[in-house]
Amino acid sequence: MQDKLIIALSKGRIFKETLPFLKAAGIEPEDDPEHSRKLILDTNQEDVKLLVIRATDVPTYVEHGGADLGVAGKDVLMEHGGSGVYEPLDLRIARCRLMVAGQPDVDLEGSRRLRVATKFVNSARRYFADKGQQVEVIKLYGSMELAPLVGLADCIVDLVDTGGTLKANGLVPLEHICDISSRLIVNKASMKMKQARVRQLMNAMSAVVPRGD
Ligand code: ATP
Ligand code: PRP
Repeated sequence: MQDKLIIALSKGRIFKETLPFLKAAGIEPEDDPEHSRKLILDTNQEDVKLLVIRATDVPTYVEHGGADLGVAGKDVLMEHGGSGVYEPLDLRIARCRLMVAGQPDVDLEGSRRLRVATKFVNSARRYFADKGQQVEVIKLYGSMELAPLVGLADCIVDLVDTGGTLKANGLVPLEHICDISSRLIVNKASMKMKQARVRQLMNAMSAVVPRGD
């Protein structure tokens, strides 16, 4: 794979929002992942391929050399943990906030041990531990908003953008954990072995990062 450059992306929001960055580097996919079952997409550059994988798998592929580069949300990178990949560029796309949310009358500081439902178990544990609060973390894989409604948990830790999903389910944002955006990540060996190409791509991408808030 020495001659190729492999970039891992997830379908949907990240793929769509990464397209202008690829275009700035002269890379255009030949297929649309929304309409294709292919997992390896060709591009207009014969030696550049795109892997279309689950968002949470992007750091794993990049860390272990299944891809040279990838784009992943900071939420995913924080959960993945460690320093297995380089994270040289904040693309400032797919921006949202990691928050604690719950029903409006919930008491987060009560004497009972708080039950927190989330797919971000490491980030949630770390956040409450830093506040000196012991919590029971309940791992879910999606639709976290349901958990407080049926008494499975007292609150959730989830991503919030417009707040529409919380509102539609009678929940409110309670505590801001951190701001989230997507990052370009790079395999450590590729950064050395394919330095010229990786740098060229990084420079082209960084030139079109949106500025401002
Ligand atoms: P998977 O399909 O593997 O479960 P996912 O559903 O988290 O992954 P997406 O919904 O495409 O995948 O989210 C990809 C990234 O986009 C997230 O990791 C996060 O950084 C960001 N993101 C998620 N929800 C929002 C949102 N509502 N607004 C803006 N950015 C978001
Ligand atoms: C994300 C997140 C929230 C929602 C927040 O879900 O998990 O549910 O967005 O956005 P809002 O504050 O603008 O409503 P997404 O739409 O990505 O669905 P998914 O988790 O099923 O992928």
